[in-house]
Amino acid sequence: MTTRLNSIFDQLSTHWQTVKTRPIKDLFKANQNRFAEFSRHHDGMLLDFSKSAIDEKAFDLLLDLAREVELEAKRDAMFRGDRINKTENRAVLHTALRRRDQSPLLLDGHNIMVDIMAERKKMFALAEGVRSGKISGSTGRAFTDIVNLGIGGSDLGPAMATAALAPWHDGPRLHFVSNVDGAHLADTLIDLDPATTLFIIASKTFTTIETMTNAHSARRFIAERLGDHAVADHFMAVTTALDKAVDFPVRADRITGFWDWVGGRYSIWSSIGLPLAIAFGSKNFEEFLDGAGVLDEHFVNAPLDQNLPALFGLIGIWHRMICDYPTRALIPYDQRLARFPAYVQQLDMESNGKRVALDGSVLTKPSGPIVWGEPGTNSQHAFFQLLHQGTDIIPVEFLIAAKRERADLEDHHELLVANCLAQSEALLIGRTEEDANAQLIARGISPDTAKSLAPHRVFTGNRPSITLAYEKLDPAQLGALIALYEHRVFVEAAVFGINAFDQWGVELGKELATSLLPLVKGKKSDPHLNGSTAGLIKFLTKA
Ligand code: F6P
Repeated sequence: MTTRLNSIFDQLSTHWQTVKTRPIKDLFKANQNRFAEFSRHHDGMLLDFSKSAIDEKAFDLLLDLAREVELEAKRDAMFRGDRINKTENRAVLHTALRRRDQSPLLLDGHNIMVDIMAERKKMFALAEGVRSGKISGSTGRAFTDIVNLGIGGSDLGPAMATAALAPWHDGPRLHFVSNVDGAHLADTLIDLDPATTLFIIASKTFTTIETMTNAHSARRFIAERLGDHAVADHFMAVTTALDKAVDFPVRADRITGFWDWVGGRYSIWSSIGLPLAIAFGSKNFEEFLDGAGVLDEHFVNAPLDQNLPALFGLIGIWHRMICDYPTRALIPYDQRLARFPAYVQQLDMESNGKRVALDGSVLTKPSGPIVWGEPGTNSQHAFFQLLHQGTDIIPVEFLIAAKRERADLEDHHELLVANCLAQSEALLIGRTEEDANAQLIARGISPDTAKSLAPHRVFTGNRPSITLAYEKLDPAQLGALIALYEHRVFVEAAVFGINAFDQWGVELGKELATSLLPLVKGKKSDPHLNGSTAGLIKFLTKA
């Protein structure tokens, strides 16, 4: 860390100590323009961070931080295709998949735009073939149900987007089986007709044990009901490991690929989006890509102080590194984004849940926060109690659309908006003990009882939130939202000084599961196994 960087961190921390107890609501009284000054618009999206403690000084220092870590140069290196994923020696080019500019993009002297367009053409041909019924099952009947077999980045994106874009869904039904728990596959298949069911094996590596186990069981499902000869007609595959898919076997003309420079959690833009193209059609998928592409162009071109992803990231840095808040809650007041928090969880926590810097040295400051959330208004009736009155402060991110869902449900949307705003307002202003007491007295409660009840009704307020509002959730908007969150992760990683594109932390558990399997199967014993694991194996395998 440079001396200058340390000094900016110190200045930010000192500033935070001086403003920590200053009520955020007072900032609005002191500056009538606060909302305008501490919010930004881009392409129908509004990022309002005026309900955070960030003031002019903090804002300027955060921008200094971005400049000192050379955020713009790092961003350009990613878009250019430099091998910024150093521990895997890979370029990070998911942005190329939604690039609006079709001019050549060279990776090791090869124009990858040609590969991208060819693979997309193949994916769209498969998708449109299924939608039209031209590609059918072994009995000649059109597919009515598509089952995506994948996990992590090969599941969460398409599953989340399927719910998010429900009004655009005019293709076959989609199902997602990710868990190796047989219940997931069994419960999904129970109502499906094998003759009209297509499985997509989605796996970047084609080795992930959950996906391969589900794929083999799905193959049995088809073979037992329709015969071995039918299997080829009921499977497609999406992978970077084409040879492994062929060996499965999946027919070569039913396999669509992508590349090692697309991280699993960044792969929704690639052929991993095949189920979405089947559900919504190629045109809507292209709009989805375009929405992300427009956001990318903004990230690349807008000055830092107007740059939505840069500012979104810097606000995250403020809350995590300066205010030391360990988590953030993501609350979409948009039911169709119900799976968005789970999607962002992988994107953010698998990227920035790191303990060492790029050079391998142990970090001395915090890195990625815990990300969690559920849709509003449901979450108000579940965990908002803790957000308002718990002992930890948790910055909240509210997501909400301006446009109502349907004219005949206008009152629903008004209630949704009122609730969303009420929550950020309550977090901001709180309620003093004096007010709580007065309220109780006004209700006819005796002064003694009011005095004892009032502390329970105090809201400290001064709890930060940001609101991300957009016109309407459609394919382009969803693309832009995801790209915004991706780039926020990038910006934060640049300041943390970590590699956001590897995920070695998932490996140890995978290795141990492989070595424990023979013990669970009772085929091997290990006298050196720790008492807890040995005892649990005994208990779990006694039936
Ligand atoms: O275990 C983590 C992980 O590697 C994720 O990064 C990835 O999205 C997921 O597993 C699935 O991997 P694959 O697409 O190779 O099956």
